[in-house]
Amino acid sequence: MKKKSLILLLSLAMIFTFVLSACGGGSEESADTGDDSAVLKVVTEATFAPFESTEDGDDTIVGFDPDMMAAIAEDQGLELEWVNMEFDSLIPALQSDQGDIICAGMNKLAGDRADKVDFGDTYFESDLMLLVTADSDLTGIDAVTSDMKLASQIGTTGGDMVQAMKDEGKIADGVVLNQWTDCYLQLQNGEVQGVIVDKPVGEAYLNNHGDIAKFVGESFGEHEEFAFAVQKGNTELLEKLNTGLANIKANGKYDELVDKWFS
Ligand code: ARG
Repeated sequence: MKKKSLILLLSLAMIFTFVLSACGGGSEESADTGDDSAVLKVVTEATFAPFESTEDGDDTIVGFDPDMMAAIAEDQGLELEWVNMEFDSLIPALQSDQGDIICAGMNKLAGDRADKVDFGDTYFESDLMLLVTADSDLTGIDAVTSDMKLASQIGTTGGDMVQAMKDEGKIADGVVLNQWTDCYLQLQNGEVQGVIVDKPVGEAYLNNHGDIAKFVGESFGEHEEFAFAVQKGNTELLEKLNTGLANIKANGKYDELVDKWFS
């Protein structure tokens, strides 16, 4: 008799455990497919004012790109969160599903980027310039001599250019750094004789440092077309972003943001 009671008790316990886990699993599943999945992760590198930067001591990312993407998100009913990381981590982040969108003043024409992610329509155009100290005698990129060092940001078109110039023996060293702010510091400390930087970004730096730095010469390198990017094959999201961009251009919001950040 005792044996039968024990078996019955064990059977009831197993059934109870199964029911409990099944109910509990449902709540876990709903948590996995809850609101969290609706938030799209935008990855960027935020030392690139006025496109994206952070205020001293504050992690909030401000700039043209966050404002533009917020307007696109509102137009298309999307919810975004921003993640700041090193520039050369941005494409790998999308490839490893650690991000949904890149918005970082990224040139969609550069190298093999378009083989790895899908770029949207162009939202800004730019060129590279040579930034030097105010007392520099340099007249432009072609005047740089093989004893000089140039800096730019790692993983960027400028960074690739200084590394190529080093490899070709045109400069003594191509210094590639994680943050633009470090590039500017190296220039001001005399560690490098120039910084290769995107023209709108260099202009923003000169707005506040025109007494200690200047552009020299004409723009050089490939004309750049900045675009947001999504994971390869995510055509649905890309179409939403492109449509949102077209809509904010049509309704004047885009021009309002250009005036806000570039006037
Ligand atoms: N336009 C350049 C490129 O595509 C530099 C972009 C740097 N952007 C940034 N948020 N740090 O390589």
